[in-house]
Amino acid sequence: MDNLQIFVALDCSSEFDAHKIINKLNPEFCGIKVGKELFTAVGPKIINYIHNKKFKVFLDLKYHDIPNTVKKACKNAADLGVYMLNVHAMGGSEMMLSAKEGVDQSQNSSVLIGVTILTSHDQKSLRDICYDKPINHYIKNLALNVANCGLDGVVCSANDLNTLKPILPENFHLITPGIRLNNDKKHDQQRVSNPEDAKKLGSTMLVIGRSITEDPNPLEVLKKIQLKLK
Ligand code: C5P
Repeated sequence: MDNLQIFVALDCSSEFDAHKIINKLNPEFCGIKVGKELFTAVGPKIINYIHNKKFKVFLDLKYHDIPNTVKKACKNAADLGVYMLNVHAMGGSEMMLSAKEGVDQSQNSSVLIGVTILTSHDQKSLRDICYDKPINHYIKNLALNVANCGLDGVVCSANDLNTLKPILPENFHLITPGIRLNNDKKHDQQRVSNPEDAKKLGSTMLVIGRSITEDPNPLEVLKKIQLKLK
């Protein structure tokens, strides 16, 4: 497995804004995560643009639908040549097995990962959607299900890694969003961690958005983070 990688979340709504941030970054220091906001606005051409700039792409569309739809969406996503893509583990085993089948049908071997519980959720917000058990119960069982379905890793909070790392396969990718630099605003995230702690806890990839992209000099912030992680 590679060393700890950082994916910068490109959460913007236009090609112009996306290009502006991409051109301030450097593929030596990060990959780029494209999510629903940007992909819905711009479509697959943004992936080609990022690939031409030599960045790895994490296509974060968190598929959650009937198995057949997810299988075909995952094949199409892998066909774009993305390094990594994801589904919601809450879609269940049949859906995740179909997702894997879809990726396997593509010529490109994208990494396929499952999202456990969004880092924006806490116990109270889970209760709102009728999940009454302790949050850890869901995180643990969903992550185990992701591994049992043969996916390559999970997305979770760094705070979940103490529970998850010992029960998951050794080379599993452990992708942690909800990263905040010390003293940063939490925004809509609940279960946050700083990059150094996330690394100590065993994260293999950090997803960092606003802490980098809202700074006028994102590459400098990125380099500082990388230096602290050495
Ligand atoms: O700006 P911030 O660092 O909070 O961005 C986090 C990014 O990670 C967002 O693009 C969000 O969609 C994504 N994400 C997340 N929690 C997950 C999975 C993905 O915050 N469980």
